[in-house]
Formats: sequence, C-alpha cells, structure tokens
Amino acid sequence: MKSFASSLTNKDKFLILGCGFSGSFFAKTIRKFGCTALTSSRSENNDPYSFVFNSEKGIIPNEKIFEGVTHVLSCIPPDKNGNDPVLGNLKDKLLDLSLKWVGYLSTTGVYGNTKGNWVSESDQPTPLQKRSQKRLNCEKEWTESNLPVQIFRLPGIYGPGRSTFEAIKRQKIRVITKKNQVFSRIHVADITNAIIYLIQNKNSLKFHQIINIADDEPCSQIEVIQYCYDLIGLKMPKPILFEDAKKELSPIAQSFWVENRRVSNKLLCETLGYRLIYKNYKQGLKNCFLNC
Ligand SMILES: NC(=O)c1ccc[n+]([C@@H]2O[C@H](COP(=O)([O-])OP(=O)(O)OC[C@H]3O[C@@H](n4cnc5c(N)ncnc54)[C@H](OP(=O)(O)O)[C@@H]3O)[C@@H](O)[C@H]2O)c1
Repeated sequence: MKSFASSLTNKDKFLILGCGFSGSFFAKTIRKFGCTALTSSRSENNDPYSFVFNSEKGIIPNEKIFEGVTHVLSCIPPDKNGNDPVLGNLKDKLLDLSLKWVGYLSTTGVYGNTKGNWVSESDQPTPLQKRSQKRLNCEKEWTESNLPVQIFRLPGIYGPGRSTFEAIKRQKIRVITKKNQVFSRIHVADITNAIIYLIQNKNSLKFHQIINIADDEPCSQIEVIQYCYDLIGLKMPKPILFEDAKKELSPIAQSFWVENRRVSNKLLCETLGYRLIYKNYKQGLKNCFLNC
C-alpha cells in the first residue's frame, strides 16, 4: 500500500505537457494554489510560462524547464504511430527528477463496447478501435515507467468554449438518434478539480493507479442537444436516424457510435470521496451557457 497524497505549496512546480483544452484549464487552476505551472505547446506563443515541446519535429524542452519540477501532468495523446510522445522523448529526464506525482490523461475508449453496461476500473479493458489499443499500450508504458504515475480515464470532455453550444453556433450540429445509445461525459473543471483533490487528499490511504473521471449520468446525445436548444430558446432540428446519417459521418465520428458504455465514477466519487462540481450534463451545460 502506497501513500502518495501531499498538500500543494508554492514550492510545487508543475510541468503540464500539452496545454490544450484540459491542460490549460488545469494550469490556470493550479496557479491559484500558488504553484508554478509551465505549459507546453507545439509552437511558440506569447505566454511567458509556455515552452515548446513537439515530438513530431523533435523539439525537446531545454534543461532549465525541468529545474525544480515536482509534478508532471501529460495531456498529450499517442502520436500517429501509437507511441507516447512524452515517454518516447522525455522519460529519462523525468526519471532524473525527484517527482512527487505524475498524471496521465487517458480515455475510457480503452474499455471498448460494453453494450450500454456500466464499466469500472476493475473491468478488463477490451479496446475495439485501433486508436484505443494504442492508448492502452501507452497506459501500460506509463505504468511500467517507474514514475509515480496516476492514470485518469476520461470520457467526452466538454466545458466553456468546447460544447454543443459551439457546434450549434457554427451550424455544425448533427442531430442523430440511435436507440439505447448513451455517452458518458465530463466537464473540464471536474477533471482539474478531481485531480487536485486526489493529489492533496491526505485521507486517501491507498494509491489507485487508474481512475475514471466521469459524471453521474451517461445519457443519449439527443438529450444533451435538446437541452442546449431549450437553453438558447430555439427549436431543435428534426433528428436523423443513425443508420441514415452514417454515410455522411467521418470514419472517426462513426467509430464513436459503435461503442456504447456507461462509465462508472464510483471509485472516484464513493471510495475516494470526490464531489463532482457538475454531476450531470444539465449542470455542466448551464455553466457553458453562462460562459458562452
Ligand atoms: N477531447 C475529448 O473529448 C477527450 C476524451 C477523452 C480523452 N481525451 C484525451 O485527454 C487528453 C487531453 O484532451 P484535450 O481534449 O484536453 O486535448 P487537446 O485540447 O487536444 O490538447 C492536446 C495537447 O497535446 C499537444 N500535442 C499533441 N501532439 C503532440 C506532440 N506530438 N508533441 C507535443 N505535444 C503534442 C497539443 O499541442 P498544441 O497545443 O500545440 O496543439 C495540445 O496542447 C488527450 O490525450 C486526449 O486524447 C480527450
């Protein structure tokens, strides 16, 4: 049994590898705890706390970036060959640091199709898609890396700036219906807050290496879209049956519809005691609507 939790202080320095949607939310929040947070992106930008890491171009951060780092969060997906960009390029550097904690954002896609049944961390992953098999391989690489790593399996991520509202605004919305199909989701603020909770949770005596972060209510996509139209006060377009819509969907969009699962958050919310900010899509979307 391994204890890992510790309080965050202004001496803690986070490297957030991959400052996209989730990474930037995490960086912004962790700075409020007084911690330093440096973030990576693939190209230069004006943010003084940002540095370049680009595995495709072989651009590796310089030594100074790693000085004093205590925590690392990787939000970078596998590369096109299925390899983990961080472990492939930075593993030795990370192993040289005295890291208190490392987090890796993965996906619930590794569970494959459970035909609408609930799935938890204790179930054996049975990835259906090639990309999910690659992801599972990356997870394995992380768990075997000798780093103090915790893996977070995430379903569809949404939040202000990335939700059904943006799809409606850009007129990119497809109102598709498929019988008994559900999706799990998570608001970006809950990803950040759950991770910070776990890093700090002194009462958590057991180190759980793999944790799902999902909300309480998997549901059909159409319920979500309908709710957004209701909040905006517009009429939702007539739904199209998945079988009819299929031919117009990209292969990747189609692949999401062949998997049907309900992701359990019992380990996070019951065993470990995390309280979701947005328990369901209604609460989460209200927040997105107010911040549109
Ligand atoms: N989006 C979802 O619904 C969802 C669901 C489940 C799991 N996930 C996974 O959770 C993680 C975070 O998701 P997200 O949606 O927040 O990610 P995101 O917004 O797409 O950001 C990904 C980040 O990774 C960086 N990156 C990508 N390839 C890279 C490479 N080869 N070398 C260096 N940096 C690279 C990107 O750099 P730039 O900033 O330069 O673009 C970006 O900062 C990802 O692994 C994602 O696959 C996502």
